[in-house]
Amino acid sequence: MELVTGRCGKVCGEIVVPGDKSISHRALFCGALAEGETDVTGYLPSEDCFSTLQCLQKLGVEIGYSSGTDHLHIKGVGLHGFQPSKELLDAGNSGTTARLLMGILAGQPFSVTIDGDASLRQRPMRRVIKPLSLMGADFAAAKNNNKPDMLPLTIKGGNLKAINYKLPVASAQVKSALLFAALYADGVSTVEEPAYSRDHTEKMLSFLGVNIRHRNRRIYIQGKQKMFGRQLVVPGDFSSAAFFLVAAALLPGSELLIKEVGVNPTRTGLLDVLQEMGAELVIENRRIIGGEPVADLFIKGSKPLQGVSIGKEIIPRLIDEIPVLSVAAACAATETVINDAQELRVKETDRLHTITQELRKMGAEIMEKPDGLIIKGRSRLKGAVCDSHGDHRIAMSLAIAGAVAEGETLIRNAECINISFPGFVPLYRNLFH
Ligand code: S3P
Repeated sequence: MELVTGRCGKVCGEIVVPGDKSISHRALFCGALAEGETDVTGYLPSEDCFSTLQCLQKLGVEIGYSSGTDHLHIKGVGLHGFQPSKELLDAGNSGTTARLLMGILAGQPFSVTIDGDASLRQRPMRRVIKPLSLMGADFAAAKNNNKPDMLPLTIKGGNLKAINYKLPVASAQVKSALLFAALYADGVSTVEEPAYSRDHTEKMLSFLGVNIRHRNRRIYIQGKQKMFGRQLVVPGDFSSAAFFLVAAALLPGSELLIKEVGVNPTRTGLLDVLQEMGAELVIENRRIIGGEPVADLFIKGSKPLQGVSIGKEIIPRLIDEIPVLSVAAACAATETVINDAQELRVKETDRLHTITQELRKMGAEIMEKPDGLIIKGRSRLKGAVCDSHGDHRIAMSLAIAGAVAEGETLIRNAECINISFPGFVPLYRNLFH
């Protein structure tokens, strides 16, 4: 699919964005691991979440779901009710599916193979294989795979030992895999992260009755605990809201209200950065739903944004928003420097490279560093023919760049948007005219 966009005057109105992708994956995994039934509303019907759903079905989990809806009904099998899958488990494009699934499979007394698409086959799995192997799981490269640290991989689990593990990189996917595996081990496991990454797994496990504690950046979890199915509500995805927040901040005269967005502080680094850049933003109607903080976000496009310098702890809190933040930075009045973001090189694409390459086509002055970006600012973006490289967040960031650029922008390979945000194009068309 090609997406053609043009300059837009301002964005005004009230919108809701679809359910949070990370929380939707976890609702599926935790619902499957629970005793009893779990009803989920606000589920994100995207390709990535569907990969998780199908993998769990192949492992014998009954999931009631009508295609395209935001409602799920999961019949939990408990920790030990998974069935061996005769077929390979396909995680598609989804790192969250592959890595969290490995944590659960590490606890199963059977072997199964996980694979993914061309992008996922390039992504690092050593970070999860290493600690899960220390706990007792066995990993082997699948047939015709000569890279033992990458998919496709065969995993044989069972008889896990508790672990005390310091994550070398802040990764919610690896942390979550270890927390799931820890449920299968005797004794207390601890997982320490170098910076806070999203804590949706901890919140959901606790909401479903698991005793899980954290002190500073270390999490403690006792093995062999049961959890119990209950009603789960998935809030709107902050990472999806981010595209519209940036558009409204950049387009003078905009007044946009985004309702019912998840505002877990481990996810909302972009709010802090946009405020530091001078955006007029109000967070209202804060409440807790299903153990997660939710709020309505109101943003105005008033004065030009200023550049910022960011790095270290804030990076995991806005890791998925850096491509769209780069669009804001390209239009800001002064230079922006992004440090400590080397993790972006191992996402669906090397996002430091793909966003640099594509925004340059639109006239942005942007330079790659090994761990980040230097973005000059003051660019009057102009329309261009761009490519998503098959990366959903690059496609949507370019759509936002297209809405603030002079002239027409064409984005090739935009169908990947459905990986995380089905409904983005109609919502965009509706708002940006
Ligand atoms: C995710 C964690 C992050 C994030 C990804 C979703 C999750 O990845 O970039 O989009 O749902 O746990 P890492 O754990 O690799 O940082």
